[in-house]
Amino acid sequence: MLAIYPGSFDPITLGHLDIIERGCKLFDQVIVAVLRNPNKTPLFTVPERIEQIRRSTPHLSNLEVDSFDGLTINYAKMRRATALLRGLRVLSDFEMELQMAHTNKTLSAQIETVFLATSNEYSFLSSSLVKEIARFGGAIDHLVPKHVAVDIYQCFAKIPPASAQTTDLAPTQELPRTAPFMEGLPDREV
Ligand code: PNS
Repeated sequence: MLAIYPGSFDPITLGHLDIIERGCKLFDQVIVAVLRNPNKTPLFTVPERIEQIRRSTPHLSNLEVDSFDGLTINYAKMRRATALLRGLRVLSDFEMELQMAHTNKTLSAQIETVFLATSNEYSFLSSSLVKEIARFGGAIDHLVPKHVAVDIYQCFAKIPPASAQTTDLAPTQELPRTAPFMEGLPDREV
């Protein structure tokens, strides 16, 4: 069985990686499909996001990474997939995800949406949250693959903030709200 895991992945997080790894155990083949969305200004281009996902998943031999535009269900039909894979983190995800699943079912009765509950440790995690933390100089290397953390720091500042090089902070130690090196740098969309 072939499953499509569609999403923005701007950028991939450890939460996405958790779903990908578990999906690869459940399905014969999984395609991570990055949406080319002209209505959004992402932090990373689609080729950058594809490269980030590929670099995060060399251990998964039944995984392919691709991009698509238009409707997810049309891409899934084109690839002859039997399932769409999505992660569910918290209750607030559920409403939108259920709506998408129902809508996709009306467009193709043959393709099922399969939800995996995101592992507990990533239930709070989103790409937007990661970008916001990095933007204000916080540590993100426990939230995304290491090379992605470097990419994000480079996007915002060209060099990683000293405060973000370790996650072993003393409980009382506070991260700066804005890392000094970031001041005056042009904003990128997050
Ligand atoms: O990572 P995201 O942003 O939560 O992914 C959302 C995504 C890409 C799965 C969803 O927006 C999508 O499928 N977009 C493609 C357009 C489409 O098929 N719309 C109808 C779905 S109901």
